[in-house]
Amino acid sequence: MNIMLLGAPGAGKGTQAAKLIEAFGYAHISTGDILRKAVANQTPLGLAAKGYMDKGELVPDMVVIGLVKARLQEPDAEKGFILDGFPRTVVQADALGTALAELGKTLDAVISIDVEKNALVERLTARRTCKQCGAIFNVVSQPETANGVCPACGGELLQRDDDTVETVTNRLDVYERSTAPLIAYYKDKGMLRSVNGNRSADDVFGDVRAIVEA
Ligand code: AP5
Ligand code: MG
Repeated sequence: MNIMLLGAPGAGKGTQAAKLIEAFGYAHISTGDILRKAVANQTPLGLAAKGYMDKGELVPDMVVIGLVKARLQEPDAEKGFILDGFPRTVVQADALGTALAELGKTLDAVISIDVEKNALVERLTARRTCKQCGAIFNVVSQPETANGVCPACGGELLQRDDDTVETVTNRLDVYERSTAPLIAYYKDKGMLRSVNGNRSADDVFGDVRAIVEA
């Protein structure tokens, strides 16, 4: 299965991707994760991307399209992949369609995780991510993580630089302006499946799993 997860910042794309990987072993293609790694390693890509990410703006289309095209050709993508955080603009969606056609691949499901806007700021400002294993937590709903130690591997839990109230507010505006139109884009193609993301992550995964197994 080749799956795309669509949703606002904080909708739970990374959380659902982790559950899909655990259940089905797909390759995770997260442009946000790729860019954050490049920033941490201070590569030319990271140095170019950091300014956009810190402000909650999108990195230019041509940069991320190139990254995803290369990532889709890595061997692990053969077993099925999850696109998380890409595409984010109509230009990226069109480029993805072209790239998949060139590679002889298809998308099997576009899953939109729909969450009430007022829950998103709260989720994001309380998010913590393990520096070591990448697991995603929330200090409000999972108070056991407030000590900054990953319950899964003992690694250090960090807050993302772009999870401040100010940057989150801009990210949500950018989402409405540039990315939300993709819901109609994939609906018009008859590919969109929507799940109610205003429930526990496990309940949301029940619906995601049913779509994947259908
Ligand atoms: P990216 O990393 O993609 O961030 P995002 O889209 O803003 O989404 P998030 O990762 O913040 O949220 P998520 O939906 O994954 O939620 P999560 O599961 O973590 O992008 C970051 C930046 O990189 C962009 O701003 C841009 O600059 C750049 N970038 C990336 N891709 C790009 C592209 N294609 N083009 C251009 N620029 C790009 O969950 C969030 C929190 O909620 C956690 O605490 C979690 O525990 C909790 N939670 C999850 N599910 C639930 C639930 N069901 N109920 C309650 N809490 C939940
Ligand atoms: Mg994410």
